This record gives sequence, structure tokens and C-alpha cells, in this order.
Amino acid sequence: MRILIIGSGGREHALAWKLKQSPEADEIFVAPGNGGTASLARNLPISEGDVPALVAFAREHHVDFVVPGPELPLTLGVVDAMTEAGIPCFGPVAACARLEGSKAFAKEIMQAAGVPTAACGVFSDRKSAGAFAAKHGAPLVIKADGLAAGKGVVIAMTEHDIDAALDDMFSGRFGAAGQTVVMEEFLRGEEVSLLCFCDGERALPLPSAQDHKAAYDGDRGPNTGGMGAYSPAPVLPDDELERMADLTVRPVLREMARRGTPFRGILYAGLMMTDDGPRVLEYNVRFGDPECQPLLMRLDEDLLGLLRSCVEGSLADHKLRIRHEAALGVVLAADGYPGSYPKGMEVSGISEAEALDAVRVFQAGTRYDNGRILANGGRVLCVTAMGETLSAARTRAYEAMERISMPDSFCRRDIGSKGLEHLQSETVPGAERRVTPPQRS
Ligand code: AMP
Ligand code: GLY
Repeated sequence: MRILIIGSGGREHALAWKLKQSPEADEIFVAPGNGGTASLARNLPISEGDVPALVAFAREHHVDFVVPGPELPLTLGVVDAMTEAGIPCFGPVAACARLEGSKAFAKEIMQAAGVPTAACGVFSDRKSAGAFAAKHGAPLVIKADGLAAGKGVVIAMTEHDIDAALDDMFSGRFGAAGQTVVMEEFLRGEEVSLLCFCDGERALPLPSAQDHKAAYDGDRGPNTGGMGAYSPAPVLPDDELERMADLTVRPVLREMARRGTPFRGILYAGLMMTDDGPRVLEYNVRFGDPECQPLLMRLDEDLLGLLRSCVEGSLADHKLRIRHEAALGVVLAADGYPGSYPKGMEVSGISEAEALDAVRVFQAGTRYDNGRILANGGRVLCVTAMGETLSAARTRAYEAMERISMPDSFCRRDIGSKGLEHLQSETVPGAERRVTPPQRS
């Protein structure tokens, strides 16, 4: 089969790496790809949002299967366009991708489906938003409705923060994305990601994962795309996955099917585990980046077959095969990220890092240049390792990171700490238990 992957991040490098292991994969293209995908596949000079060019390429080169990584092509309707051209494409149609593309729509679906989420109001003018804020007071969470590259959410802890955020949102800074604003109750708790393979009717949960959104150690600093992730996250253990999917994912599948637009692809519920139970913060309609990297290292079966089953509606009674080991990924970013950052620095030590057992270096913002790998983005790579326990995976990931060097870069040093704290509080000091039961069949 000829496969086209869309995107250029660490997630897409991991997808290319895993799909290449499929006995059915003959040739892989990545549009536009990065320095890592260049060594596994053929990179194409087509941007992830250029749906007509992606479809034209897929037609002309007889692509058999398309795997979009990021949300942009999905919300632009790449699945609809590929399907119309007769090319199977993994992911939701545009009508379903609105679950990520519009926070107001996601809230409407959650309410219709009875999914637990923060109480909220949706406003399209400054005055009524201000009246709601005056009634409820701080703290409030204020979200631009549309895609805003992770920058459209403000946690407003004071009345002054609320006013400033509303002025900002309604000033047009987010363009169409900010014309509608969702304001919701501030929730306290630990965040965790639940990703499910969906075939329109059924949802098959992957093990839990936890992202680290803040730029610096101790969850401080500005929000980023994600500075590291691990799986499983002890806050959502394997034996609670089915119950959590029943509560937060399957009702959405039923609601989308009822509306005549069944959801296929990955439905990712961003959860807050509060004292009053889980609440859905948001849906993503794709693999998370960097959650994808540790999750795919743990997946112990043919990814292509699974993705095709989702498109064909044939997940039936499929049981995922997952390695019992934990996996943990640490992102190396360019200094300044998520603000402005330098490019062009040389990255060295990748093969030395990968010489360690059970370590993969998934590249993100890199490009290949005459035998060298050069930094070309904010998140440059994600060093991902497996280990018998979370603590072993973490030790190995940081050992591998030590072998990589790049000027003007930084990484968080505390990826996995929250998970380790859970495990330590559950066991006698010094005796970490295995983080998952032995492999499920
Ligand atoms: P979202 O894009 O909706 O997931 O929001 C981005 C981040 O903002 C989340 O990962 C949370 O850390 C935080 N957040 C969003 N909604 C809330 C909420 N209602 N209460 C507390 N934190 C929130
Ligand atoms: N890591 C979070 C996301 O991909 O949205």
C-alpha cells in the first residue's frame, strides 16, 4: 500500500515509524514531514492545510490510504475531500472535526450527550459576556471558540483578568476564532488524556497518557503544545478505561451518529479528574502530540490494520494489544519556545541516544541538510523510552537525552513526576509496583 501521512511533528514521525512496520506498507509519503521522516519516507513540499494539493497528489500517485496527523486538515475537510476522490482516509469528517474546531459546538454536544463537563456560557458579544462574568465572578476560564494554536484559553483568577481577557478576545486578535467566547467554571484536579480508536459506532480506548503543557518544571510558565508525556498515567489506571470511555467518549459517538455524522478516527478526551469525578475539558479529534509517541511505542500490533478498521467500521470486538512496559517521552525545545526562538542549530547525538535499548528519538521541528539534522521549529524532538516501570522509562529517557546536544535548547526535567508521586503514595516507600498488569490479550 502507498500511504500518505499529513503533518510535520513528532507525532507524524512516530506514525511513519509505526506504519512502516506494517507488512502491507510499501511506500510512505509525508507532507510536509521533517528531518526524521526524511529517513523513513519521502517528504513532500505540500503544506498540511493545502487540501486540494494533498488530494491531487494522492490521486496522481495512487495513494491507497491517508493518515492526517494535525487538526487543521481535518477541520478543513481533508477526510471529506479524500473520500470523495475514492481514497480511504483515517479521521473524522469536517462535521465531526468541529468537536475540536469549535469549543461552543463541543459544549453543545457534551450537553446533548450527557457528558460531565464544566458549567458554561457561550457569548458572541462583549456586553453579555461581561454580564455573565459579573454574575459569576472570578475565577473563570475564558476560551476563544475556534482553533487558536493552544493560545485561546485564559485562566482568569481575578475580575481584572476576566475584563482583560474579554477585551482581548473581542478585540479581534483571534480573528474568527474569537468571535464567540466560551466562559466556564474553573476546575481543580489532575489532567489526563484518554484516546480512543473509533469506527463510527465503537470506541476502543488506548491506555491513559499524561501530557505536560506548561513550558517549565513544576507546571510553570506559558502553555505549550506539550513538553513531554507518558503512559500509563496512574491517575487513570487500565481497569478504569472502559468505564471512562462509557462516560466521556461513547455518548459522543452515539450523539454524532444520531446527527447523521458518525465519528471515525481518534477521539481524544482531555479530562480533569476533580474531587467530584471526571470532567471533560476538551475534545481533540486526532492523536495528541507528544502523547502519540509513548502510546505508539506501547502499541503491540499493526497500526495500519487498526486505522483501516476504523475507516471501514469494522473494529467489532477487537482487543488492543499493549506492551506492559511504561513509556515516557521528553521534548527538547529551542530556547524561547513557545515565544520566538532561533532556528538552524545542529542537533547531534541522535544515533547515540537510539543505541540505548528501547529508545526512539522522534523528530519534530527539524530538517535534514546534507547529512546534518538542523533545528527548524519550537519543539525539536521527543526522546521516548520504554521501561519495566514508569521510573525505569524515565531514567532511560533522560539518559538518552544526555547523549543529545543542541545549542540554545531546553527540556523539562520533571516529566512523569506526578505519576511517580501516585505510585509512591500507593506503595511502601522505595518499592514502586509495576505500573500496569501483565499484557492484556
Ligand atoms: P483546553 O484547550 O480547553 O483543553 O484548555 C487548555 C488548558 O487550559 C487545559 O489543558 C487546562 O490546563 C486548562 N483548562 C481548560 N479548561 C479549564 C477549566 N474549566 N478549569 C481549569 N483549567 C482549565
Ligand atoms: N498534547 C496535546 C495536544 O496534542 O493537543
